[in-house]
Amino acid sequence: MKICVIGTGYVGLVAGTCFAESGNTVVCVDVNEEKIAGLREGVIPIYEPGLKEMVIRNSAEGRLTFTTDLAAAVKASLVNFIAVGTPPGEDGSADLKYVLDVARAIGSHMEGFKIIVDKSTVPVGTADQVRRVVQEELTRRGVNYEFDVVSNPEFLKEGAAIDDFMKPDRVVIGVDNVRTAELMKELYSPFMRKTDRMILMDVRSAEMTKYAANAMLATRISFMNQIANLCERMGADVSAVREGIGSDSRIGYDFLYPGAGYGGSCFPKDVKALVRTAEECGYDFMLLKAVEEVNERQKMLIPEKILRHFSGDGAGASRPLAGKTIAVWGLSFKPRTDDMREAPSIVVIERLLAEGASVRAHDPEAVREAQKIFGDRILYSSSSPYDILAGADALAIVTEWNEYRNPDFERIAEQLKTPVIFDGRNLYNPHRLKEMGFVYHGIGRNGSGFVEK
Ligand code: UDX
Repeated sequence: MKICVIGTGYVGLVAGTCFAESGNTVVCVDVNEEKIAGLREGVIPIYEPGLKEMVIRNSAEGRLTFTTDLAAAVKASLVNFIAVGTPPGEDGSADLKYVLDVARAIGSHMEGFKIIVDKSTVPVGTADQVRRVVQEELTRRGVNYEFDVVSNPEFLKEGAAIDDFMKPDRVVIGVDNVRTAELMKELYSPFMRKTDRMILMDVRSAEMTKYAANAMLATRISFMNQIANLCERMGADVSAVREGIGSDSRIGYDFLYPGAGYGGSCFPKDVKALVRTAEECGYDFMLLKAVEEVNERQKMLIPEKILRHFSGDGAGASRPLAGKTIAVWGLSFKPRTDDMREAPSIVVIERLLAEGASVRAHDPEAVREAQKIFGDRILYSSSSPYDILAGADALAIVTEWNEYRNPDFERIAEQLKTPVIFDGRNLYNPHRLKEMGFVYHGIGRNGSGFVEK
């Protein structure tokens, strides 16, 4: 099939590349000339495992091309994916400017039948707006080509994007026309392997599905963060509680990890947008408002624990962190990405700096992105995580990169001025660390309920 994907961000680039991988002819379009020039040379603007190799191979085999010429790409393609950004507007609602600009451009260049697919996460009703804008352009041109607008939300996770796309849990297709439904099914059939995981529904339900999925996952995380905070106060251990409840098949184990709060390009934005959409309908989505507030507070938990710890040591009670150096492991909002959007590390580090601490941070991939935020206000390392420990007063783990999971604790203890660890992702066994002489602060794990597996 001939496909064009407009927008080469995370979703667009991964989708375009994976569609090429399954044999389609794909042209990826972006307004950013530098980005397109780079992609033609195999320079990937984001860090995503496996993506670079796949882009280079499919480009070399001629199935994947990159262009800034939207008109030519639309003319040459049957299926046109809109995968541009929907940044939050000031009131939290998704800003549809880029999506509707692309829709207008498609309407002004199409010649013949087109399938237009909303791949960006867009509020319920956007497909209708896209349809209206395209039709306006056709009317303005005095032509009358047929087209269908489909909602096909993307559920891929950063850091596992290729796998999520190639082996999806499900593909949701919102469509109101049988012919287009068949074509979309054909497009996705190579990714279905043994079982058909395609779920066809009406367009509005598909748009809602994406928000409901992200809102549900964010709710689980905030819920678990509050349970953790309560465990801490009650002398229970949230890791044991998580095992205990996750074994109930109605609950399951995933997305029940307490920590430093959720970040990224989706959860914070989509939760806000759904609250806003609800308001527009005159409905108060109380639960989601609380989910967001809990998350904002949770991001402040690590610096608060650090402050509390150092207030106790008698040094300069009014500004206990003045003159202290805190080493931070992990900057990106989650492992296996260099994405810093809404990363809890931003809140953690800004607070530590505001309290007068010096900060040194390690991250295997996100240093370049982090420099855009912190500049030279902190020190960085992307090589060995031990580099930043010498003489630091404490280590705080904010993102759970694999290389932090089983570190050389003796080396950590030797390097730190005092062996104190703030484990913002509950990576370590509190008892073992205490035995080794560390002062250990986890999330929701102060109690004695820890069950060693
Ligand atoms: C998410 C959705 O998972 C994906 O389906 C959607 O398409 C886009 O948004 P992503 O933002 O890439 O994907 O990251 P995800 O792995 O879901 O993590 C989001 C945030 O939640 C991270 O900050 C992570 O650290 C946090 N998280 C996740 C927790 O704090 N606890 C958990 O148990 C799981």
